[in-house]
Amino acid sequence: MAHCSRTVADIKRSIRSGQYLNSKGTTEFYDCWAQTYEWDMMRIGYRPAHLAVDFLNANFCGRREEVQVLDVACGSGLVAKLMSELGFRHFVGVDGSKGMLDQAAGTGLYQDLRLALLGTEGLPAETGVFDVVILVSALSPGFAPVSVVRELCHASKPGGFICIAKGSYPGAEEEIYKKDLERELQLMEDEGLWSLVGIKPTDRYMENAFVTTEADGKDEQEERYIRGNVYLYKKSISTSI
Ligand SMILES: C[S@@+](CC[C@H](N)C(=O)[O-])C[C@H]1O[C@@H](n2cnc3c(N)ncnc32)[C@H](O)[C@@H]1O
Repeated sequence: MAHCSRTVADIKRSIRSGQYLNSKGTTEFYDCWAQTYEWDMMRIGYRPAHLAVDFLNANFCGRREEVQVLDVACGSGLVAKLMSELGFRHFVGVDGSKGMLDQAAGTGLYQDLRLALLGTEGLPAETGVFDVVILVSALSPGFAPVSVVRELCHASKPGGFICIAKGSYPGAEEEIYKKDLERELQLMEDEGLWSLVGIKPTDRYMENAFVTTEADGKDEQEERYIRGNVYLYKKSISTSI
């Protein structure tokens, strides 16, 4: 296959070219990338989907085959693939990229796939319906805005889980975004909307696309990988949203 000939350097160059777009540009970027996305991400050691699903699964008790999962920014369907291996069966996916949704449709795992540019459009999900709401690697400048986090909570059933994975990418804009996100997560806890189950930090969220060669990586080990967190919340039983 043609994409097998892409080197890690090619893939990182491509990822760098997609940085600093606005969200419309970002989803167009994913339209173009959709067919080789999973292969490319595997080549650069993309782990957030695995980390998020493992952390959720370790804290989940319930009949996996019965629960409704909302996979926000589902991309090509990697999260649903991993969750289905653990017994989860019912998935609704949302993404802003038609190309990525076509890939997700090809998995045959989603009962419904919904196209929406988050931040510009509201999250197309019923309120209080989903046992699990999961969003992996789409909270960043140029991706979905921080305000989407409240919408994730709205979509969850009372007592449901909300799982968010986010990489700590370099740059001033990212720093501001991360502070805003953490402020919002805490505010929602203070408002009694949800409670924190746990945060799982990782030193190896994925390879840093800005470190371009093996030699660079050896010289500056700390920059070779991007750090990240998986946040897991449980929606309050008493909340009216
Ligand atoms: C890095 S991929 C992650 C996909 C999947 N969650 C995974 O872990 O493989 C980011 C996804 O977020 C989507 N995305 C980015 N910004 C978005 C927005 N504002 N609204 C909807 N989807 C968005 C992209 O189209 C892409 O599919």
